[in-house]
Amino acid sequence: MSNNFNEIRGNNGKVEAIETNLSGECLLLNPKLNKGTAFTREERIQFGLSGRLPNRVETIEEQSSRVFSVYSGIADNLEKSSYLYNLNETNTTLFYKVAEDHIEEVMPVVYTPVVGRSVQEFSKLWNQNRAVYIASEDIDRVDEILAQYTDGGYEIAIVTDGERILGIGDQGVGGVNISVGKLMVYTLCGGLNPSKALPVVLDVGTNSELLLNDKFYLGARHPRLKGDAYDAFIKKFVESFKKNLPQTLLHWEDFSGDNARKNLSLYRDKLCTFNDDIQGTAAVTLACVLSGIGFSGIDLKDHRVVLFGAGAAGTGIAYQICDAFTRFGMKEEEAFKMFYLVDRYGLIVEDMGSIQSYQKPFVRSRKEVDGWTLSDKNNITLLDVANNAKPTVIIGCSTVFGAFNEAVIKAMYKHCPRPIIMPLSNPDTKAEGKPADFIPWTDGNALIATGTPFKSVDYKGKNYVSSQCNNAFIFPGIGLGAVISKAKKITDNMFFAASIALRDYAKECKTCSENHQLLPPITEVKAINKKVTVAVIKQAIDDGVAGISADIDIEGEIEKRLWYPKYQPYRKV
Ligand code: NAI
Repeated sequence: MSNNFNEIRGNNGKVEAIETNLSGECLLLNPKLNKGTAFTREERIQFGLSGRLPNRVETIEEQSSRVFSVYSGIADNLEKSSYLYNLNETNTTLFYKVAEDHIEEVMPVVYTPVVGRSVQEFSKLWNQNRAVYIASEDIDRVDEILAQYTDGGYEIAIVTDGERILGIGDQGVGGVNISVGKLMVYTLCGGLNPSKALPVVLDVGTNSELLLNDKFYLGARHPRLKGDAYDAFIKKFVESFKKNLPQTLLHWEDFSGDNARKNLSLYRDKLCTFNDDIQGTAAVTLACVLSGIGFSGIDLKDHRVVLFGAGAAGTGIAYQICDAFTRFGMKEEEAFKMFYLVDRYGLIVEDMGSIQSYQKPFVRSRKEVDGWTLSDKNNITLLDVANNAKPTVIIGCSTVFGAFNEAVIKAMYKHCPRPIIMPLSNPDTKAEGKPADFIPWTDGNALIATGTPFKSVDYKGKNYVSSQCNNAFIFPGIGLGAVISKAKKITDNMFFAASIALRDYAKECKTCSENHQLLPPITEVKAINKKVTVAVIKQAIDDGVAGISADIDIEGEIEKRLWYPKYQPYRKV
């Protein structure tokens, strides 16, 4: 019996009861099994809980409403998030019930943007959680650490080294809250059973002086491992992960750009793994762009895309869009030529010194920009590009607050009646711009998706809702699809299939078509991820990487695996 309990499934394959050998205090202290005041009178007697709970037996709905009323009385978002994280560590089912009942309110608190603050305050606020901590000094014992989880039936592990958290940089061990929060999103938006989720932090040190000098810092207090030492650490971890958790998907999260790309390319064919910042972001952004292109009235081949901030997320997005355009019949070189990459030193042009290898296919020729009107030909600014290249799409992954200013957006709007504007940097203090400005600057014509959620905007008597280009629309479906299909690896086709499933859902969504919203409302996220899961499983089968039979009832299989926040009856063993 793993985790002290077994799921009992009925003839339809769905969970009908839980069998457990725990009782009394141990049962109440097990967050996966605790029902608190919802233990029935019979269960209280049978499991040694008499006298340990107040008299009244509540339903989960009553518990959820009581918890939410306390939560609503908390003014500060970080305190709200701590309250919910503590609930998750006491009664996981109730936590998910509250979160599901109030998904629009709770998602930004347990995940972006508030998770950024909980990461920053991690050491001060630390509470025991169920994460796995692997510090550099423990790497030679990694087998011993991971072997403890072998029998846990874990399906998805989110692994971070905390170096590039959201837009707030190196957060050391505090990055673990990103793994914890993102796994919550897997459950809330995809239906992953939370007891099959494993958050992991690779504590390879930190280069943040603030943390190194913070007397309360709880991580390994030394500079980050780098070069060969870092690579050797990751290699040992991945080898041990494959050995001890062979059925578990490894989801990489918030590594620095270089390490993210290196780790992904080294291991993506060796186990079932993906990097959400690179591949998940690119897949959801592609769906937004395709949805926007649909509304723009401009032919796909006539679009020009500016990418501001050509780092890990940005270039991942650019490659994914190019790949999609070639799937729609364009030549690869034509697709690359639709892009203008603007980074720290302006537009990336061929004779610049610091061009990264992954930026090279997008480099513009000097000859091409010679005819442009520029104030400084050695630093071609975003405004220069907006004026000269006449973009139809602008995507921001730079963490430069306010970069999509009035001059840039108006320059774009001058040439494009329905500009697609996507400031993706997180959190809101790093966003390149906000809908409340874009809407008036384009007289309500901008097609907007943002990285962080923004309030709707009232303008000239109309209410404008912008979509959040939220990976949550896609990564849970990719992860679950890979797990259910028992994929040996995750192919590019599987990501493309996920994007198309999301784009198609948006196309058929009434809210999207009536309001020219690029993505459906977050309240539909679970239904969307189900479609994504189906698409990913089908593609895994088509690509020959699935470990399940091709004639499986896919929808039935998904339905059996989905977890819902409700209490099951308990049986004693
Ligand atoms: P990164 O550090 O790899 O890339 C940032 C890039 O911006 C670098 O190439 C950097 O040189 C460039 N940059 C910095 N200052 C600049 C300036 N003044 N002008 C132009 N470029 C400048 O970081 P990464 O992983 O690409 O993330 C960037 C942002 O994208 C973060 O805020 C992150 O939260 C966000 N992101 C958003 C997602 C979403 O779905 N909304 C998902 C993943 C990342």
